[in-house]
Amino acid sequence: MELEVVILAAGRGARMQSDLPKVLHPLAGQPLIRHVLNTAALLNPSTLHVVVGHGAEEVKSACADIPVNWVFQKEQLGTGHAVLQALPQINSASRVLVLYGDVPLISEETLRQLIDKAGNGTAVLTANIDRPTGYGRVIRDESGCFERIVEDKDATPREREVDEINTGVLVASADYLNTYLPSVTSDNEQGEYYLPDILSQLVKDKQQIFTVSASPQEILGINDKVQLAHAESIIRAARARALMDLGVTLIDPSRVDIRGDVKCGSDVVIDINVILEGHVVLDDKVNVGANSCISDSTIGAGTVVHPMSTIEGATIETSCSIGPFARIRPGTKLSRDAKIGNFVETKNTSIGKASKASHLSYLGDAKIGSSSNIGAGTITCNYDGVEKHITEIGDNAFVGSNSTLVAPLKISDEAFVSAGSTVTKDVAKKELAVGRSPQRNVIGWKRPQKKNLS
Ligand code: UD1
Ligand code: CA
Repeated sequence: MELEVVILAAGRGARMQSDLPKVLHPLAGQPLIRHVLNTAALLNPSTLHVVVGHGAEEVKSACADIPVNWVFQKEQLGTGHAVLQALPQINSASRVLVLYGDVPLISEETLRQLIDKAGNGTAVLTANIDRPTGYGRVIRDESGCFERIVEDKDATPREREVDEINTGVLVASADYLNTYLPSVTSDNEQGEYYLPDILSQLVKDKQQIFTVSASPQEILGINDKVQLAHAESIIRAARARALMDLGVTLIDPSRVDIRGDVKCGSDVVIDINVILEGHVVLDDKVNVGANSCISDSTIGAGTVVHPMSTIEGATIETSCSIGPFARIRPGTKLSRDAKIGNFVETKNTSIGKASKASHLSYLGDAKIGSSSNIGAGTITCNYDGVEKHITEIGDNAFVGSNSTLVAPLKISDEAFVSAGSTVTKDVAKKELAVGRSPQRNVIGWKRPQKKNLS
């Protein structure tokens, strides 16, 4: 039987108290729903249906790169009603896995277990939790067989004492859904069409309902900011743990956030309050200082990122030194032994082997050769208000402090720019450029004096 997945994501999420649709709130750097979509995709379903309502267009555009069959639920009349909207687009020979867009931590393993257990029939994912208030409860008969699910609001005080809850996740054949879902009524406390109501109908028709129990952590639903932060801390701990298992030293695992996929070599050390986003590679012996953010970058072996640095979209070779307080922007390439010091910003710039920009510079659209020195306060003026231009600096060049390099410009190998120059013309090999007004000393000059008015 083919598998089709239906993800319910039409609800408003009022308790998030936000204009953003609930399923788009970021968790570990990705919207909630993308966590569910990613896990669902691992099961190779023939179709992934997502039921949207509130903020439908925003949700669709946040997932535009994922092949999804979007189903629109105009009014949110309940989980049963939501699945009913998708049903006409589901092959009647398929089996259907229902997931929630706001239950992001569910694992592939648990879902596979549930699908296996269901076989051609029906299986529900349950969990035993300490504080079941708010959840639907699983009611079993004297022999322990599944009987029905009762929503918290419809439950009797006795039923509310049950700590086995419905996670909402279930597997059923499209055939059963077609047979039973249309006859679900909204005759309950909330006036909603409840999906779990099909289960009691199946039981009445002597069909067995299988259950699989999940850990309370994976079935955590995100309804408010407290639960969102809790889920974030679960992911943080799990990812930090995975890095440590591979031998990475984390000074404090509770203060490292991995919001993407990170590959580390051996003897990598990561200090506190570091955020790693997107695809990040940290090669052997890389050391990342406190309060640094690295996204979509490769950092070569032995490179040290000093504290308070941000690195985005960069390729850094071995044994470089970056920061403290460096801002490395997209398109930066550092060759080995290069040094970028404090308050230096680079963008779309390549820096050759062992070249240095140690303090207070902006290097944009620059190509710098090897063993060159860029003095403190050097600015490449790469933008003329309309277009960007390139500054080329050769090997063994020396750019004195506080120089303004007006691009397009070429400073050749071994050229020298005197401090404080505004350089507008190319500088040839071994030439010295002096682009500042000559100093004038006034002999016999007298300091201004306070006038004595009395
Ligand atoms: C549901 C279950 C409850 C279970 C709990 C687990 C029902 C009736 N109840 O309750 O047994 O313990 O989940 O978290 O199924 N949605 C739609 N369209 C709708 C209604 C809901 O798409 O018309 C979506 C929501 O966006 C959400 C999911 O379905 O992603 C669950 O809906 P929600 O209203 O949160 O259900 P609960 O009351 O939590
Ligand atoms: Ca819910």
